[in-house]
Amino acid sequence: MCGIIGYIGNQNKKETIINGLRELEYRGYDSAGMAILQNDDLKVFRAVGKLTNLESTIINAKLHDEVFCGYGLAIGHTRWATHGSPTEINAHPHIGTQSALVHNGIIENYKELKQELESQGVVFSSQTDTEVIVHLFESYAKNYTAQEAFSKTIQRLIGSYAILLITKLEPNKIFYAKQHSPLMIGVCSKQHDEHKGGAIFFASSDAALIGLVDKVVYLQDGNCGEIDMYGFQNLHNIQPFYANKISAQKEGYRFFMEKEIYEQESILLETMMGRVSEDGIILDELDSDFFERFRSIAICACGTSHHSALVGKYLIERKARVRVTTHIASEFRYAKPVLEKDELFIAISQSGETADTLQALKLAKDEGLITLAICNVDNSAMVRLADYSLLTRAGIEKGVASTKAFATQVMVLWIFSVLLGIKRKRINEIGIKSEIKAMLNAQKATKVQAQIHDKIKRLSRRYLHGHGFFFIGRDIFYPLALEGALKLKEISYLHAEGYPSGEMKHGPIALADSELFTLALMPKNLLYNKNKSNVEEIIARDSTICAITPLDFDLADDVVKIPNYQSYMEEFFAMMVILQLLALEIAVRLNRDVDMPRNLAKSVTVE
Ligand code: G6P
Repeated sequence: MCGIIGYIGNQNKKETIINGLRELEYRGYDSAGMAILQNDDLKVFRAVGKLTNLESTIINAKLHDEVFCGYGLAIGHTRWATHGSPTEINAHPHIGTQSALVHNGIIENYKELKQELESQGVVFSSQTDTEVIVHLFESYAKNYTAQEAFSKTIQRLIGSYAILLITKLEPNKIFYAKQHSPLMIGVCSKQHDEHKGGAIFFASSDAALIGLVDKVVYLQDGNCGEIDMYGFQNLHNIQPFYANKISAQKEGYRFFMEKEIYEQESILLETMMGRVSEDGIILDELDSDFFERFRSIAICACGTSHHSALVGKYLIERKARVRVTTHIASEFRYAKPVLEKDELFIAISQSGETADTLQALKLAKDEGLITLAICNVDNSAMVRLADYSLLTRAGIEKGVASTKAFATQVMVLWIFSVLLGIKRKRINEIGIKSEIKAMLNAQKATKVQAQIHDKIKRLSRRYLHGHGFFFIGRDIFYPLALEGALKLKEISYLHAEGYPSGEMKHGPIALADSELFTLALMPKNLLYNKNKSNVEEIIARDSTICAITPLDFDLADDVVKIPNYQSYMEEFFAMMVILQLLALEIAVRLNRDVDMPRNLAKSVTVE
């Protein structure tokens, strides 16, 4: 949610900030802006909509290139609106008389602060919570040094924030603060001299720093300070930064989402590496007494990650016979959940920064539960907070609609469930061998077959109208149905719901007619006949059916056939790919913005 970039150095600041924001645009794209402080001149540019509009605004300002070159400071922001609609006036940077500021997160006490400042005569121009910060800073700066004023300002804020501020009062420094919202500082050590400086970068996510820096500091909650060109070496916890640019580009695919669907086959191998082999299953991250420390499990997550939590429940209960409850994180926090001390709390998150899940994890930790984060981003807030973590190793996921992150989460949960089953003596040697075989085959089942993709491209044109979609399945195919429906909703804006097949007759079947499309997940290896009866009930009401199954099913209007696999998990992963491709191709036909669907953000770091 929102992206932040900052820069100190001699490079062209317009290009540096725009390039950085381009890498972060997938996090929010309601508006964008930048501020440049150079030769005692503070310039601010803002524009509604995507980054290209900001570029046009700057071009239209008809400034000489010298304005952007030479030593100076710059900050940039790409916004996903929370407080205040996505207008230019609400876009960041927010400005005072001599300072500019960008902010990710939410200032919960902004109303009180605003009243206080208004009573001093400060006039606000935006409806945002952010604007109070810059005015508060300038108000303190009347009586204190810029350093003191910034620190006093930050002490007054309640909520979550990653903040960068530049001010004419200290024209060589960027002020920064972090609380519950990611922020990092990086340098390229080859170009950076401790005494002569070089360039300093700030970013709210790794993606913006790839190829630019080789050393980073991930700021911690409570970090607040200022830095000039020479200050990097004085920071604590400097770490090497290895990410490479190739992995962050589209590599010939039309969309990041498409690339990420195709990548799943190789990514799942990464996920399994060192964990699953012919010889057995290992999770090095979990020590031997870990498995003895709990009697039940609570899993908490949001969005797609919540769907993998639901898959995890079926898998863990079936394979390890350990009771599992699943929770939507935004509901969990305020529901006064009953937490048992001998319960394992698992937070699942692609980003590791989702505010709702992070706060739920904190709550569980404060209650003394043993905690585990299943997460894609090392060093993320959740990984740092949890007692244990299992990385899903999906690599950077750029498509806002999550695909490979989901696949890897399910794989990690499957590995975890089998290992727990082994430790709890619920799975014997034969069982272990067959699980391992199924895992290795399931990875292969995610390979996108050209003829299947072509079929889905053709099929998609018949599923562009109607009054809605139902995705139905049983058991683990029910959360997969939820995920299929979510994918379609997210990127095509068509109305779609996931339902357990057996539940349709208890209400939703009332909607069935020929303009209702039902996507039926009909695996051969799990409850095929039960499912078939449910699908036939819907066919009898004239709904248009697209069945995804390895078996012949003449009653369906369309059938997407998957190979004849030996296990339901292979069928699960094969069907997952089909649902992802179907959502993609329908969205393409409807001319939607696949990688940046409206109103969504990749990582939601506000409640
Ligand atoms: C946002 C994204 C979803 C994602 C959810 C949870 O809403 O748009 O795709 O599933 O956040 O994100 P997380 O990073 O915690 O998995």
